[in-house]
Amino acid sequence: MHYLNSLTSKLPNVGTTIFSVMSKLAADHHAINLSQGFPDFDCDPELPALVYKYMQAGHNQYAPMAGIISLREVLAEKTQSLYGANYDPEQEITITAGATQAIYTAITAIIRAGDEVIIFDPAYDSYEPAIELNGGKTIHLQLQAPAYTIDWQQVKQAINLHTRMIIINTPHNPTGTVLSAADLIKLEEVTKGTDIVIISDEVYEHIIFDGLQHQSVVRYPALAERSLIISSFGKTFHATGWKIGYCVAPQNLMAEFRKVHQFLVFCTNTPAQFALAEYLTQKSHYLELGNFYQQKRDYFIELIKDSKFEFVPAAGTYFQLLNYQHLSDEKDTDYALRLTKGFGIASIPVSVFYQQQLDNKVLRFCFAKKQETLEKAAAILTKV
Ligand SMILES: Cc1ncc(COP(=O)(O)O)c(C=O)c1O
Repeated sequence: MHYLNSLTSKLPNVGTTIFSVMSKLAADHHAINLSQGFPDFDCDPELPALVYKYMQAGHNQYAPMAGIISLREVLAEKTQSLYGANYDPEQEITITAGATQAIYTAITAIIRAGDEVIIFDPAYDSYEPAIELNGGKTIHLQLQAPAYTIDWQQVKQAINLHTRMIIINTPHNPTGTVLSAADLIKLEEVTKGTDIVIISDEVYEHIIFDGLQHQSVVRYPALAERSLIISSFGKTFHATGWKIGYCVAPQNLMAEFRKVHQFLVFCTNTPAQFALAEYLTQKSHYLELGNFYQQKRDYFIELIKDSKFEFVPAAGTYFQLLNYQHLSDEKDTDYALRLTKGFGIASIPVSVFYQQQLDNKVLRFCFAKKQETLEKAAAILTKV
């Protein structure tokens, strides 16, 4: 094949994501894959049965651009009952092709060339490329191990006339930490009187432990009015492959979001939307999700408590960080490779989530796995 040699990449520093790299390496070396964040157990069989039902019933054409209204209505009710805020399902909720599309759409709708966007490293890897492709400038502030808390004084100092957006993520991937009510009040303080828009990535909103309350920005009216809140059915229903998520925002922000959404995807999978709407009307299984994953977290950390790894139990998400400083002084990327190839267990080195590749000797392990997978993983980790 001939190719243009004048092509200049718009994202010269972006390669294949670490998740694809580690998952492939895990498969090549028959390693237990605790790297990429997805369950190795199936979703409730009722969900695919419902999709089939709606396909057979002829729901096989385009959905409305913003998503089917019954699904948006049930999400409006959920948002009201959990967080006490009213969003109009007609104008303020849009169903997307996963949270990833929602994040890209929200950034594209708001960011112009030269705008600055504050993100907190270690950060989920889709934020920065979306900012850069829109001509924005990513301002990386660092969360320090092991607490990974936000330094609000630093945020205040980073804000200037070009700051157009702040992206937060709670519960947080990759660290498993959560923001507190005090953090949200600080966010309110630093954004007061500015025209900063917030993207609040809340895809793990239901996976929170030890009786902690999820601090959605929706709970804080002064934040909600400037926020696009993004969530994902993939995380909540053990169905990451369905790639369905949603965005909730006040009408003026949502109008801009939809202008981009309609040309990026127009709409997303119709039968799956019907299935989710019916399922959510019947069951509130997401209320049990915190307990479900807390048991997995507890099982995993109990099994590895006598290993040489150090850890603070995750407060949310299905990721547990393990510090290996007593085992090796290798770089975390090298150590993750060695664990995969030599010991048969794959993880994600946390430095890849930092712009400056800050190496705290920490690896991220996904515990959204069957009991037997966690046992096999722990058997290896206790022998390393
Ligand atoms: C913090 C965070 N945001 C967004 C996403 C993307 O979610 P989706 O699979 O629905 O696109 C993920 C997935 O791992 C994530 O961890």
